[in-house]
Amino acid sequence: MNVYVFLLLLGSVSVSIIAQDVEDPRQTVVVDLGANQRLKGLNVSSPSSVKVYMFYGIPYAIPPVGNLRFQPPKPALNWSGIRDAVSQSAICSQFTFDNLTSVKSEDCLYLNVFTPDVNASLPVLMWIHGGAYRGGSAYSDVDGATMAPQGVVAVTINYRLGAMGFLSTGDDVMPGNYGMLDQVLALKWVQKYISAFGGDPSQVTIGGQSAGAFIVSLLVVSPLTKGLFIRAIMESGSSLSLSAVERMGSGNQVRDSTLRSAERVGCNQTTSAEVLQCLQEVNVDELMLATLDASLVPRVESKFGFLPDYPLNLLKAGHYNKVDTLQGTNSGEGSAFMQDPEDDGVTRQEFRNAVKSQLESFSNTEELVQELVDAYTGNETDPLVLRSILVQELVDWVFGGGSLTEIIKYTKTPDVATKHFLYQFYYRISGTKTPAWWGVDHSAELGFVFYPNSRYNYSTADDRAVGRQVQTMWANFIKYGDPTPTSVQTSTGGPKLVKWEPFTPDQPNLLEINVVSKLVTYPRPLLINLYEKIIELANTPVQRIPIVG
Ligand SMILES: *[C@@H]1O[C@H](CO)[C@@H](O)[C@H](O)[C@H]1NC(C)=O
Ligand SMILES: *[C@@H]1O[C@H](CO)[C@@H](O)[C@H](O)[C@H]1NC(C)=O
Ligand SMILES: *[C@@H]1O[C@H](CO)[C@@H](O)[C@H](O)[C@H]1NC(C)=O
Ligand SMILES: *[C@@H]1O[C@H](CO)[C@@H](O)[C@H](O)[C@H]1NC(C)=O
Ligand SMILES: *[C@@H]1O[C@H](CO)[C@@H](O)[C@H](O)[C@H]1NC(C)=O
Ligand SMILES: *[C@@H]1O[C@H](CO)[C@@H](O)[C@H](O)[C@H]1NC(C)=O
Ligand SMILES: *[C@@H]1O[C@H](CO)[C@@H](O)[C@H](O)[C@H]1NC(C)=O
Repeated sequence: MNVYVFLLLLGSVSVSIIAQDVEDPRQTVVVDLGANQRLKGLNVSSPSSVKVYMFYGIPYAIPPVGNLRFQPPKPALNWSGIRDAVSQSAICSQFTFDNLTSVKSEDCLYLNVFTPDVNASLPVLMWIHGGAYRGGSAYSDVDGATMAPQGVVAVTINYRLGAMGFLSTGDDVMPGNYGMLDQVLALKWVQKYISAFGGDPSQVTIGGQSAGAFIVSLLVVSPLTKGLFIRAIMESGSSLSLSAVERMGSGNQVRDSTLRSAERVGCNQTTSAEVLQCLQEVNVDELMLATLDASLVPRVESKFGFLPDYPLNLLKAGHYNKVDTLQGTNSGEGSAFMQDPEDDGVTRQEFRNAVKSQLESFSNTEELVQELVDAYTGNETDPLVLRSILVQELVDWVFGGGSLTEIIKYTKTPDVATKHFLYQFYYRISGTKTPAWWGVDHSAELGFVFYPNSRYNYSTADDRAVGRQVQTMWANFIKYGDPTPTSVQTSTGGPKLVKWEPFTPDQPNLLEINVVSKLVTYPRPLLINLYEKIIELANTPVQRIPIVG
């Protein structure tokens, strides 16, 4: 309870205007980054003496403006003396998300650090926000301060979004992926400076949710991140998710869509170099508007080399960073797209139609539709049961199939050193209004990982127990590479944890997270090869998709 009160206080800390040193009523703390660079952050202390030092708006790159727009980020310049890190930076330019009070700007490459002890050497979590590569910010979906009491240094980052992060001419002039390179640079900043905040650069975990999980998974397969982290958390997303990267064969479409956008802002030159030069001078908000329908996702390219090949190919070849992973989904992430006003469930025909429409953009998929329907429904005919199965199928179609395929690739690579944990999250926070068959919405687990967060109401004992359970498992993974190490599991005072065994090819374990969590064998083994087949199809130029079978 005390911790909750403390967070409400945190929520009310004004971060807008900084008074002179002497007049600042808040406790401050100063850390030394070397070369005469010091940073002043906030020292926030709760009545229960849970202490968090917070540093906001630390620059990690030179502002990517002018002729640095659509270029790889450059490391921030050193400053000298004390720099204030007591107020939030601007968030990256974006069209809709994060209305809050945040200022949006192209000058947004800043990160935040939350630490319980600036003089320690603690494991680090670098969190990458989601928002479909187009929205969100380091401030939008989590509160890094909630992790600090677990003995973890949390870092939250902004990275370039939408056109600023991803616009590409489909060639080496504008290869795209600038936002991804921002994340890599932030990881390098962590290596260089996190010890000044009490973090251990050799114990970095990266984590993210939704597009943030796509990104984490892409960072795992990127050759540019070698040695920058040892663990990865992916909540509802994988680099193998069908919308995580630009699909093969769409290079021309990408170029066309970029040129169309460019024309709207008066950049109708013919060569990529001319278009780039022109686009670098366009007002950022105009450009955001003009690119709403453009393809703005990470892509395979060799100029920067962030993603030299499709993630599935890199995984198959064993070309990825061998790190521990924890990943999974929520039980009803696609339910918002389902409607059942009559509440009479789903017939087998309706189930089949739903699967068919998912595969619409693929060709010759009759057999695949049948295989998917069979794998999920067997001989089930009860419409209410079929409705629940369809909820699961939607979860898998959007996120779960990618995660499953990814974890299988990790565990099949000969490598005894790393461990991989798979979950599905089933707990519906008290007060959830949707019907029970919806399951748990996209993003709902965040309030339990970053617990307690002032944006959520934890009204019941179950809410709070799940918060303690989930946060403890996540923090254990960050600290030990294992969510339920025996020594911690049996220690007194903490929440009671079910032993979460890793997923292996022989024993594909899945933790069903709920008030009482349950370790089960992954229940749909038929899907293991099916999703890989679907992902492979997605990586094939549409006009050349072979007949399946
Ligand atoms: C932070 O604040 C607490 C409580 O006000 C105080 O005891 C502690 O000395 C402060 N630490 C620093 C580094 O300012
Ligand atoms: C900037 O600071 C870093 C860290 O203290 C130091 O290693 C580096 O030499 C400095 N660079 C310059 C140009 O002073
Ligand atoms: C964003 O803020 C504006 C101005 O306060 C308001 O009109 C609008 O409804 C807000 N949008 C969202 C999505 O909250
Ligand atoms: C960290 O350690 C230094 C040197 O021992 C000390 O001066 C400083 O007060 C400590 N900082 C905090 C926040 O505890
Ligand atoms: C570009 O647009 C301008 C103004 O709309 C027009 O005058 C010019 O001919 C166009 N150039 C090309 C290469 O299409
Ligand atoms: C469905 O199939 C399972 C196993 O394949 C079988 O045990 C069960 O009896 C069947 N149910 C119906 C209603 O046919
Ligand atoms: C939390 O409870 C308050 C008061 O009952 C309500 O206004 C608010 O919408 C709730 N927030 C959430 C996220 O459920």
